[in-house]
Amino acid sequence: MADKKLLVVFGATGKQGGSVINSVLGDEKAASQFSIRGITRDPSKPSAQALAKRGVECVKADLNSKESVTEALKGAYAVFAVTNFWETGKAETEIQQGKNIADAAKANNVQHLIWSSLLNVTKVSGGKLTGVSHFDSKAAVEEYIRKIGVPATFFLPGFYMSNIPGQALNNMGGVYNLSNPVPNNAPFPLFDADRDTGKFVKAILLNREKVLGKQIYGATDYYTPDQIIADFQAAKPQDGKGGAAIQIPDQTFKGFLGMNGMSEEAQEEMLQNMQLLYLYGYYGGASLEESLTLLDEKPTTWKSFVEQEPIWANIK
Ligand SMILES: NC(=O)c1ccc[n+]([C@@H]2O[C@H](COP(=O)([O-])OP(=O)(O)OC[C@H]3O[C@@H](n4cnc5c(N)ncnc54)[C@H](OP(=O)(O)O)[C@@H]3O)[C@@H](O)[C@H]2O)c1
Repeated sequence: MADKKLLVVFGATGKQGGSVINSVLGDEKAASQFSIRGITRDPSKPSAQALAKRGVECVKADLNSKESVTEALKGAYAVFAVTNFWETGKAETEIQQGKNIADAAKANNVQHLIWSSLLNVTKVSGGKLTGVSHFDSKAAVEEYIRKIGVPATFFLPGFYMSNIPGQALNNMGGVYNLSNPVPNNAPFPLFDADRDTGKFVKAILLNREKVLGKQIYGATDYYTPDQIIADFQAAKPQDGKGGAAIQIPDQTFKGFLGMNGMSEEAQEEMLQNMQLLYLYGYYGGASLEESLTLLDEKPTTWKSFVEQEPIWANIK
């Protein structure tokens, strides 16, 4: 135990961080090399208590407090860091949280910071899409980490598969249609955040020299809306009466988001996020191949996700 390296995981009670913990604990090689400290604002909550029972040291810290983040990184060799933009919806808050982590990593001489990043959409689009704040702010943190010189790898999660059930893919029209404001050949880099974040991050941890300074793309494959609905129907045949992939007008898309209580600004952000997919590419058109070759466990396919999705359990 004493000679294990300390891995500090932010977002330990959430999807990405929780998956990292599951993968490291579940892998003989990784578990023999790393001990885990999980960060939460509330170590008394059930999800944190469950981690503690599995041998994770649960430590209280708040990303908004540089002091508490610096304290939480004492003795850390590696750090997995994710921020939750949507909790405040404010780019400046996410950037400050990311800088707090970067500065704390520098102060504690952390040897491998893995930052959950995304592309700078303003740059990728040549200034055409300037509203995708939750991407741009993570990219700004990536830039800062590179600037201050912390040894780091940048993990870019793909489009969560869990965004789709009951949202874009639903039976409100009587059959299961997939409705998005994109053409039916738009490439979605689909990603099972719960099951697969850890597969990628574990591989990053175990291949440090190879991946320092690199961006690693977290996605199983690029799927078009036509493929998404075809795989859905392959898993759920619905007596051959399934629906289709439909391109809905931008205003209809925003209208749905508005009905769910989203602000006009956030609606525009989500629309531009979808436009990114077919105009410039979620990863700027990059291939997933190099990232996928790092993995020693296969990532979850969309079809397998559909088969395991609880809200679709009763569809035949
Ligand atoms: N949906 C997508 O398709 C997609 C794709 C790529 C990237 N993303 C990004 O993924 C991020 C969310 O990650 P996730 O899915 O893992 O989120 P999640 O499941 O909602 O978990 C969020 C985690 O962040 C922690 N947290 C939030 N604020 C904190 C603070 N001030 N101090 C310390 N910990 C804090 C929470 O811990 P406690 O509550 O226990 O303190 C929780 O563990 C977002 O920024 C989003 O932009 C999403």
